[in-house]
Amino acid sequence: MTRAPVLPAAAAGLRSPAQLISYLLEPKNWLIVTVPLIGAHADGLAGVGWGLLAVFFAAVLPTLFISHGIRHGRWADRNVGARRPRLIVLAFITASVTVGLILLIVLGAPVMVTGYLAFMLTSVAVLAAITIVWKISIHCAVASGSVAILALTYGPLVLPGFLLVALLGWSRVSLKDHTTAQVVGGMVLGALAAVIAYAALAGTAGLCICWVRFTCQPQAGGSEMGKEFADRWGVPVRAAHPDAVTLLEEAIEDLAALAGDPVARAEAAVTADDTLVLGHIYRAYLQLYATTADGVAAASEILKQLDKTVMGEREAHHMRAARHWVDGDWEATTRSLERALLCHPRDLLALKVAQDLYFFLGNRLELRDSAARVLPAWPREQPGWGYVQGIYAFGLEENADYRQAESRARAALDHNPRDVWSVHALAHVFEMEGSQRDGVTFLTASASDWSASYFAIHNWWHRGLYHLELGEIDEALALYDNPIRAGRSTEWLDVVDASSLLWRLSLFGVDITERAEQLAADISGLVGNPVYIFNDWHAVMAFGLAGDHARNELVVAANRHLTAPTNRGAVERAGLDLLEGFSASAAGRPDRAIDLLIDIRPRAHAVGGSHAQRDVIDLTLIAAAARAGDDALARALVTERVARKPSAEAAARLLVAANGGSSDALRW
Ligand SMILES: [Fe+2]
Repeated sequence: MTRAPVLPAAAAGLRSPAQLISYLLEPKNWLIVTVPLIGAHADGLAGVGWGLLAVFFAAVLPTLFISHGIRHGRWADRNVGARRPRLIVLAFITASVTVGLILLIVLGAPVMVTGYLAFMLTSVAVLAAITIVWKISIHCAVASGSVAILALTYGPLVLPGFLLVALLGWSRVSLKDHTTAQVVGGMVLGALAAVIAYAALAGTAGLCICWVRFTCQPQAGGSEMGKEFADRWGVPVRAAHPDAVTLLEEAIEDLAALAGDPVARAEAAVTADDTLVLGHIYRAYLQLYATTADGVAAASEILKQLDKTVMGEREAHHMRAARHWVDGDWEATTRSLERALLCHPRDLLALKVAQDLYFFLGNRLELRDSAARVLPAWPREQPGWGYVQGIYAFGLEENADYRQAESRARAALDHNPRDVWSVHALAHVFEMEGSQRDGVTFLTASASDWSASYFAIHNWWHRGLYHLELGEIDEALALYDNPIRAGRSTEWLDVVDASSLLWRLSLFGVDITERAEQLAADISGLVGNPVYIFNDWHAVMAFGLAGDHARNELVVAANRHLTAPTNRGAVERAGLDLLEGFSASAAGRPDRAIDLLIDIRPRAHAVGGSHAQRDVIDLTLIAAAARAGDDALARALVTERVARKPSAEAAARLLVAANGGSSDALRW
């Protein structure tokens, strides 16, 4: 014979609806829901974890204490109706919450969680004091406070929760545990405490944000501490003044187009309005783009200034993204940006930064699909449509959909010829399809549209690749000497192009020793504190070409002890082999270079960059095979290369010859 299951409510001896309601809506259950939700709003999934830890001290331990008291006859039931036992329970709760609060502070929980817990502590003390003279309803105080703080945090959709509070109040009176006055008193005190707590934690600006939410004014509202505007793409931005929003829009557009001066515009935006939180986060992004330890430190400092700032939903997503980036977790950064895009698919800043990070991560599928997911939100008449086409075009190109990539890039350029990212996407199409002459023609004709861009050196580099493949070595060398290296930039963005082109010129037999020595001297201060393996790989090329093999050993050694999760993972998967393989090649050890590089190609994408950039691995392998006298390997590598790109045959033969190989060896 089987028994009917014993339900918890039945087990608790609940016979009436009022008893059941009191049981289900007791303080513990409110806290179990409320605190993790507060944590989630402060710090996503990690915040939920902090909330659950707080719940353990604020709800679970007190419940165990009350149950223990019932079992030992210290009080009659879980509601602890008698005044003296009630004070004992409140004292225990105070102690438990205090211990939990100290632990959360020591462990670094978000300020909203610790602050809320601190306020809970104060509220318990106030309730205990009132209980000495009057039996105020703690059930109703906790319930009302929970609904109030959730409504302040998440918006007015939470307000119907007060119906549950009213139901709970009815049950407490119906059960004769409290008078109507005690129930109403609890409700008022709980809600008031929540408002005071939120004001204390979030500041006046936080309450202003809530006021905007409650009054449903998407364009403007609140006080001078902060209003919600819609940017030119229709996405919310919090600011004190619309002029600052306009400056930020221009700064974001500069980044999307790779034009103008995003740094100066971002500075102008926050100078115009220091409360422009997204402007500050954007400044942090720009520091992080430098992929240097100094950039990370500067970004961290900017974000620290925002620690206690209560922000809108969009700003909060970006804040999480920037913090993850500072922590060296680039995958987590992209996840936060994708959350931002789910909320606001026309968040051009989130889309652009996400694609750049997918590029750094070598994640070719997301390079394309992050843009694909938001395309329907960007109709042609929408401002910014062209930038999104260009972003998508580059993703398509990296996934070998050259026809659609070209079509999207050309459409974007018809829209705005100065969209440098779209110029670049089209340059990649020419490179990958082996249309080098068309590439030279295109970049020459369009140069006036992009040569003033801070990204221009990279486009010149692309033109250098065309010339090398066409066997026009002198043209490539002239590009190195003038637009690419004349300014002797020490930005990694430019340094990797210079190193890469110089390395290729060396593979083709050009004596570049003096240029390499100058480049190595220029970048000597950039290594030693690795942030991004792609950079250090290119530093190894420069130092190797300059004959500074001892420095290359230092670069390799520095990359063996990384802590930032993303860079460490990339180094372990492929980076170390690349560093050592290129070092060996530069040190005149082609056999060793082949051993290290031959198997790396399927996983080399882990270090980031584009197919065109990583093509230097294939070129280096062909040269190493020729130098090592491994004719069979040289022939196999050239054959596969020509199968992919028939126009590459002449340059491949030139490469083999420049490294001591014979053309006969390439015959089958
Ligand atoms: Fe490129």
